[in-house]
Amino acid sequence: MKSSKLDGYKLEEILHKTIRAIDQSKEQIFEIAEDARSEKENLLRKLEALREETKKVIDEVDQLEARYRRARTNLADVSRNFKLYTESDIQKAYEEANQLQIDLLMAREREANLKILRNELQMRLKNINVTIERAEVVATQIGVVSDYLTGDIIKMSEAVESAQYKQMFGLKIIQAQEEERKRVAREIHDGPAQSMANVVLRTEIAERFMNVKQMDQAIQELKDLKFMVRQSLADVRKIIFDLRPMALDDLGLFPTLRKYIQEMAKRDNLDIDLSLAGRERRLPSGMEVAIFRLVQEALNNVVKHAQATKAVVKVEFQSGQIEVSVKDNGIGFDEEEQEKQKEGHFGLMGMKERVDLLEGDLEIQSIKNKGTTIKIRVPVNESGEISDGSENEN
Ligand SMILES: Nc1ncnc2c1ncn2[C@@H]1O[C@H](COP(=O)(O)OP(=O)(O)OP(=O)(O)O)[C@@H](O)[C@H]1O
Ligand SMILES: [Mg+2]
Repeated sequence: MKSSKLDGYKLEEILHKTIRAIDQSKEQIFEIAEDARSEKENLLRKLEALREETKKVIDEVDQLEARYRRARTNLADVSRNFKLYTESDIQKAYEEANQLQIDLLMAREREANLKILRNELQMRLKNINVTIERAEVVATQIGVVSDYLTGDIIKMSEAVESAQYKQMFGLKIIQAQEEERKRVAREIHDGPAQSMANVVLRTEIAERFMNVKQMDQAIQELKDLKFMVRQSLADVRKIIFDLRPMALDDLGLFPTLRKYIQEMAKRDNLDIDLSLAGRERRLPSGMEVAIFRLVQEALNNVVKHAQATKAVVKVEFQSGQIEVSVKDNGIGFDEEEQEKQKEGHFGLMGMKERVDLLEGDLEIQSIKNKGTTIKIRVPVNESGEISDGSENEN
């Protein structure tokens, strides 16, 4: 079904939208926290003013209490010695005490109200502090989520890209197999098949010469025939070698490489130096084929891209591993740039995959205008427990 297909771009779009929404929420939370912070400042200012006012009212209450006490003492004094005071003195003392009582009651009420207000403000301040704290926690969490998703989108894009790339790579393998078959068919058609047709023709001619007893011509024809058959045999051998270097099975990796390199140096007019270090030994056949193909691809790249005058191939049998390097003095390349233009270039990718299958590693060192070195290290299990690696063969 088409819709069930992994559509990398759609997924990426959804993730982008999600991240945008989350970022907006983060901004909103920041705004909420910011508002809460300015509200807190406001409350603190109000509370400060309230405290000042409360202090004043308390002072006022204290003073009024003192004055009221004095007025009551005065009133008691005047009442007890009423003969010493005029009516209006008594009246005045009474009214003063009365007024002070009222003032005191009102001041006390104001004090009580202010205290209630202060408590309310303190409560609001506490709540606003909780809001700020929560907003900060949420903002941090959203930040973490958004970072995580942003990181993930990169990983996901890579995964999707790699899945698409693998698919492309699989197709490329099928295509390469088809190309290989076409090439072999063409080579057999143009070479040995043509020659065999000629051989049949020439045999008939030789036969005719013999029938009429023209032995010299017959012998000449047979000589030509021998040359032709030899040529075909060489062609057939080359085709077989290109298909699967059988020398690998008989002679092993290093001699096969030597043979291949000799022929390549001649054919492509390239100075190729091959050296061996360590104790040469046989490896599982799949591994030998894989390493041979790796060197073959590296050297093909040298011929195709490097514009080099010299290449050096080193094979080193070390304990527990084999190290092979292919170095050229050509134009080099930028690996990062090459990574970006994978399409249509499968050689290096195939090399990496092959090395991965062998659980080894591949190192590319390329300097513009200085040359390229490709180093491959593959672990070799000396105890002989290794699988023969034939599943890696191709
Ligand atoms: N030895 C080298 N010197 C200079 N450039 C190189 C060398 N090896 C590889 N490259 C660069 O790296 C690119 C990728 O190489 P790779 O073998 O992956 O693909 P390709 O050779 O172009 O195509 P394919 O191998 O699929 O036929 C090449 O196109 C070339 O630009
Ligand atoms: Mg290549």
